[in-house]
Amino acid sequence: MEKFPLLLSARSAVAALNEKTHAASLALRSRLGRPAKLAVILVGDDPASVIYTRKKGEAALRLGMAHESFHFPASVSPSEVQALTERLNADPGVDGILIQRPLPAGFDDAEVLYWIHPSKDVDAFHPENHGRLILGLPGMLPCTPVGILALLDHYGIPVESRTACVVGRSAIVGKPMAGLLLRRNATVIQAHRHTRDLPEITRTAEILIVATGSAGLIGPEHVRPGAVVIDVGIHRSAEGKLSGDVRFAEVSPLCSAISPVPGGVGPMTIAALMANTVLAAETAATPSTSQ
Ligand code: GUN
Repeated sequence: MEKFPLLLSARSAVAALNEKTHAASLALRSRLGRPAKLAVILVGDDPASVIYTRKKGEAALRLGMAHESFHFPASVSPSEVQALTERLNADPGVDGILIQRPLPAGFDDAEVLYWIHPSKDVDAFHPENHGRLILGLPGMLPCTPVGILALLDHYGIPVESRTACVVGRSAIVGKPMAGLLLRRNATVIQAHRHTRDLPEITRTAEILIVATGSAGLIGPEHVRPGAVVIDVGIHRSAEGKLSGDVRFAEVSPLCSAISPVPGGVGPMTIAALMANTVLAAETAATPSTSQ
């Protein structure tokens, strides 16, 4: 059995994706006479969200884009945030908008999905973009699933006709991940908390993508020897150590390739967000080819 799996580190994959995004961003900047602009809305002070939103703004600036952050206290009324979102929707100088999650109690997550106009919805959370993904129509695609496919592509791992199991069925990762894999002609199994005999199901997968939010859920008993394993989870222990949904030390000797936590899927998500922002600006500037 292979003892040294290929480590699917994001470093070189992010560099390759960012290089393309940077070139497209600079070309667009000279065409429009202004940079593509990302607006980031943060509500409350969730420590991870504060870090993520800062990283998104910094990444935009590094890639020749503009960004503006809006930070509300957790006590803000949802209608105030909605009013800002509507102003940004109507502002032709803003290309992409995102509302960082989780949102405080008092916000109806399902309702918030509709606030950002689908053409500026760089997270691709709007039900219209989700529907377009499933129907194979053009539209914004969600950052984490796109980032995972970019990671697989970067390392030359084929998807077509392979059996892929997605564990988790969140609207942000699990469901769109399965949809994108299907679009790439994988044979897709969607497993979730009600799946009977999870290890038996996951062991059929040549590509196993785990997005459960349950630290260390996946062990060697879940993994087919030679599988490619992608870990979307991120958990911080009391000592501050980061780990994923997959028990890396036990699972990695079985795999042909595995993504680490940290340094795997997370940075790919931000790189995909940047690519989406340039794409949104390009689409807005080219009405004849827009959706
Ligand atoms: N919270 C955790 N991940 C994400 C993401 O990709 N987008 C937004 N808006 N919030 C998140």
